[in-house]
Amino acid sequence: MPDHARITLVRGDITTLEVDAIVNAANSSLLGGGGVDGAIHRAAGPELREQCRTLGGCPAGEARVTSGYRLPARWVIHTVGPIWDGGDHDEPATLASCYRNSLALAAQVGAKTIAFPSISTGVYGYPGHLAAPVALAAVRSALEEHASIQQVTFVCFDNANFQAYRALLAG
Ligand code: APR
Repeated sequence: MPDHARITLVRGDITTLEVDAIVNAANSSLLGGGGVDGAIHRAAGPELREQCRTLGGCPAGEARVTSGYRLPARWVIHTVGPIWDGGDHDEPATLASCYRNSLALAAQVGAKTIAFPSISTGVYGYPGHLAAPVALAAVRSALEEHASIQQVTFVCFDNANFQAYRALLAG
């Protein structure tokens, strides 16, 4: 299946999506926070934080998997994006690693459908129009390696990110 058929874009709240795995834009403690991290923990319930506590944190660019608990999604893949610091501190490479490592982990656990928020484009300050092409390229290349992944959905909560992806996917 060509990769463009395997990538979709939606506007909305990732905690409502009925996919196998949703990706959380976490921090390195994995113990929750605001933004999408806060929304996912609120929707999943307290057991999510309890399991996260056993993971011992996660370095930027890497990913860890937990159950989804009360979420529709069976798994949550927690990844830690780069904090934007002007763009010449390996932010693009670290961001790409978040997407690549999250997809590898999804394939490993057997998830076939996965949804990503716009990692790092909120509190971590990564400009949305710069993050979207990095995310899309990383996902496209990872999809070539993981044929078991049937669909990747980019979920944009805000319009700016949604427009950035829409322009790219239309191109
Ligand atoms: N569904 C989908 N996307 C969402 C949702 C949601 N319910 N809530 C927020 N977002 C979007 C934001 O609009 C932004 O585009 O997620 C993107 C990432 O923003 P943040 O959640 O702020 O994450 P990030 O920029 O990666 O910063 C991570 O923020 O919440 C803390 O604990 C987290 O310290 C970590 C930091």
